[in-house]
Amino acid sequence: MMIQRKFFLLLVAAFCSIVSFCQTINIIPQPAKLTASKGKFVISKTTPMVILSESDRSTALYLNNYLKSHYGFTLAIVKKSGSKSIILGSNNKMESSMQGAYRFQSGNSGIVIKAASSVGTFYGIQTLIQLLPLQKSASLEIPAVEIADEPRFAYRGAMLDVGRHFFSVDFVKKYIDYLALHKMNYFHWHLTEDQGWRIEIKQYPKLTSIGGFRNGTIIGRYPGKGNDETAYGGFYTQEQIKDVVAYAGERFITVVPEIEMPGHGSAAIAAYPELSCFPDTPTINYFPKDCTWFGDTTGKKVQQTWGVFDDVFCAGNEYTFKFLQDVINEILPLFPGKYIHVGGDECPKNNWKKCPRCQQRIKENGLRDEHGLQSYLIQRMEKYVNSKGKTLIGWDEILEGGLAANAVVMSWRGEEGGIAAAKDKHQVIMTPGSHVYLDHSQTKQEDSVTIGGFTSLEKIYSYEPIPKELNEAQAKYVLGAQGNVWTEYMAYPSKVEYMIFPRLSALSEVLWSPKATKNWETFKTKTATQYRRYNIWEANYFKEK
Ligand code: ACM
Ligand code: ZN
Repeated sequence: MMIQRKFFLLLVAAFCSIVSFCQTINIIPQPAKLTASKGKFVISKTTPMVILSESDRSTALYLNNYLKSHYGFTLAIVKKSGSKSIILGSNNKMESSMQGAYRFQSGNSGIVIKAASSVGTFYGIQTLIQLLPLQKSASLEIPAVEIADEPRFAYRGAMLDVGRHFFSVDFVKKYIDYLALHKMNYFHWHLTEDQGWRIEIKQYPKLTSIGGFRNGTIIGRYPGKGNDETAYGGFYTQEQIKDVVAYAGERFITVVPEIEMPGHGSAAIAAYPELSCFPDTPTINYFPKDCTWFGDTTGKKVQQTWGVFDDVFCAGNEYTFKFLQDVINEILPLFPGKYIHVGGDECPKNNWKKCPRCQQRIKENGLRDEHGLQSYLIQRMEKYVNSKGKTLIGWDEILEGGLAANAVVMSWRGEEGGIAAAKDKHQVIMTPGSHVYLDHSQTKQEDSVTIGGFTSLEKIYSYEPIPKELNEAQAKYVLGAQGNVWTEYMAYPSKVEYMIFPRLSALSEVLWSPKATKNWETFKTKTATQYRRYNIWEANYFKEK
């Protein structure tokens, strides 16, 4: 078997040395249909870029920006078509109705990208970027190819947790760029956590002035070797949020904001203790005994260690609902996408069991138990979110105690939640910890601290978002999948990059490429080129020694 594979690789290498185009066509994610032919087109600074409709101007500027950053020149953007140019046309009739479908043709006379809308031409430009040479040069040889391409899934996402560690606007934009370079289209921004509230809410200024900062952080892997005794924090102003959302929009990426409820709310409770069932119980009482606290131990504080905490929002207090609705009201104008993520995961029920107000709510509403109370909260919030014309997303715990009417489920504790939701005709985004948690180690010899787990590149590549338990009709409820980047052990951008690359590249192929074209051996061969692209982007990445 091994010998056969070696022989095959030798044959491929021999063939590629005769036919030079083999080396240069390493597109990730693999296009649906690709035919290489003889010939090439050379892009130089005199090559015009033709936009047939004004809606492609921002994409043309995007390419210019990429060329400027990595090759040192830009192209003239013109409206009159001609040969020996790069033509973007987004007013075409396409056979595919899939959002983002495009056709790409390169050859001696130029490059033509056709699509039915500007998102398709943008993906055509991403494909062109993948065909650019890997050395800086003033003349960029593009091999002759014909491509008919479209995404397999409508939701192709990645999440970034900015609560455990805060990341600058510049890095968030870089992360969005990485998604765009992989034809991904959703950025899930996890904005609130026990360890920090990161979005300015004008009606509740203490959310960021108090909730945005913690006094210290445990050192190293949980439970930690002491506390770094260093104040840490940060937040985004609403102007910065708008800037990021617009930046993502230019890259055809929708930002999904997550405001966690009713758990993971310690930072909000530190700012507004009345959100807790027990406002007078200090945070230190909920702090694990084997972790080290730093500083003032009185009152409610932003958390200094990782995990799940019993101090959650009181679901019996109307103040909680007023607060959450006010927060939603303020974020609605900032996020034009259709989804609002309300978390819903990992909410311990211990406080609710002891809280007279929560118990009263259970009784008054004839709820089954505290899980019923969680559903009550999520369903009430869903009605509110729906009344504003938006769709609610929650982690799969929102299934417990009855699913809200038209909520979308993110299945993270395996695929069971997603399967149950799809069978129940609810839309699903697959994010199982087993396959797409990018905080897991990607090698068994991991030198750096990670949260644990082991998700190799091959494992993520092997992921199939449609569970075999679903029939064809049920499978339609699976919108796609998402990689999750929880940042307990990612304090710096370079660590995030190390954790996402090359796994994000594998995930993009899982989400974009037709199942029939997926091939691990081919993908592995393409990663050699992809590592060189990471170098061009000056991105850090993991590479097996
Ligand atoms: C999660 O990983 N707690 C959604
Ligand atoms: Zn309560």
